Amino acid sequence: MLPLPLVPSPAHIEVSGDAPLPLTGAGITGDPDAAAHLRTLIAARTGLDLPEGDDIVLAVTDGGPAESYRLEVSATGIRITGADAAGLFYGVQTLGQLVRRDGERWVVPSVRIDDAPRFAYRGVMLDVARHFHDVATVRAYVDRAASLKLNVLHLHLSDDQGWRLELRSRPALTARGSTTAVDGAPGGFYTQGDYRAIVDYAASRHLTVVPEFDMPGHTHAVGLAYPDLAEAPVTDVITEGSTPVAGEAYTGTAVGFSSLRVHDEATYAFVRDVFGELSELTPGPWLHFGGDESLGTAPEDFALFVARASAIIADLGKTPMAWHEAGAVARLAPGTVGQYWGFVTPTDAAPHHTRAIAERGGRVVLSPADAIYLDMKPTADSPLGLTWANGATSLERAYAWEPSAVIAGLPEDAILGVEAPLWTETVATLADIDALAFPRIAAAAEIAWSPADGTERTWESFRTRVGGLGPLWTTLGIRFPALEEVPWTT
Ligand code: ACM
Repeated sequence: MLPLPLVPSPAHIEVSGDAPLPLTGAGITGDPDAAAHLRTLIAARTGLDLPEGDDIVLAVTDGGPAESYRLEVSATGIRITGADAAGLFYGVQTLGQLVRRDGERWVVPSVRIDDAPRFAYRGVMLDVARHFHDVATVRAYVDRAASLKLNVLHLHLSDDQGWRLELRSRPALTARGSTTAVDGAPGGFYTQGDYRAIVDYAASRHLTVVPEFDMPGHTHAVGLAYPDLAEAPVTDVITEGSTPVAGEAYTGTAVGFSSLRVHDEATYAFVRDVFGELSELTPGPWLHFGGDESLGTAPEDFALFVARASAIIADLGKTPMAWHEAGAVARLAPGTVGQYWGFVTPTDAAPHHTRAIAERGGRVVLSPADAIYLDMKPTADSPLGLTWANGATSLERAYAWEPSAVIAGLPEDAILGVEAPLWTETVATLADIDALAFPRIAAAAEIAWSPADGTERTWESFRTRVGGLGPLWTTLGIRFPALEEVPWTT
């Protein structure tokens, strides 16, 4: 028998021999938020408008781990109980994946599922700097992530190509630093109202926003607004991409050439302003300050900057977060969360820096680039995407890695979770996002959620279950590529 099309695979599932529950006319009662999400999902999938009634009961009950739920389906009814609102929401998502056609009817198979996440942090990142993505696109991506039980939206809000969040303390950042994007594509920025709308929308789907202002490198756009804060571009580090010119908007894709002025006190006034304001706008615990690829910043200057920037964020009462390079800095603020973006089989000092972060009490988010960088081409002939992380990344490669095996000597409890970044050098629209993120985002979700030793945690089961989700994704408007690795249900 084919496995049920559930991704991520639940922790425990029992399929009973009972008849399935017919959905037509089934009434919903209980938690109003969960009921609204379920009605929307069922309507999108089936066209049915489920009435009020006692057939499907949705409730939050005390007990059980955070984000856990139980889903019971029998021939006469459905009951979903969540240990909290997020757990109940995830039970609703699971129910949505179970709905299937049976002749003329829509039905739900009789099952009992007890489910809870492996990792607390299950993220996606969207780069809105290389190409700007408007609020509607971000909401659509939040919906996609939430449907796979992902719970963090990391927004890469600044880079050489643009600064994408309006700040009252530093209005020139967006007035002068947001007008364009890669290849001269239209720029853009979020007003504070836009950003709050994103945060609220994400929260309504149980995602926490982790905003990032990348520093001290990746800051050419800061120099458009505040020339006195920026060093001249260091062009001899550029191996690929066009050459930047100080004071002119950068529309190329080179990295590593820009730096803030590390020895100037005005730089730290700037850091305090931008993260202070970001802190007020952001309810979540983490503020990401980047720290990657500062190739044009001398190591001792990088260390000085990282120590001060991380301390400024910690003083705001937030947990600093940074890419793993920050682990090279002995005076990194204790407790800073590190984000590993090396390869599944490390090739450089990245594991050393990541372990150093954990030794200072920080936990680690794993984003191995050759597995879950969603901006890598899924196949060599894909028109979108990059190839620097070991060539094209197949769905199988996105799936076939184990978080606890990436960094030798890193204890499992030091791993906060897993995040799949989507850098947007080649990604301009929601259709582009779908074409690269799907179906590999499902691999990231399963690695982040499902127990490592589950019976369905195999490539064969996963590719079959992903194939079974094709009809649901189609009805939700997701334009996923029909990769040949997957036996798609049509
Ligand atoms: C990165 O990919 N530069 C974090």
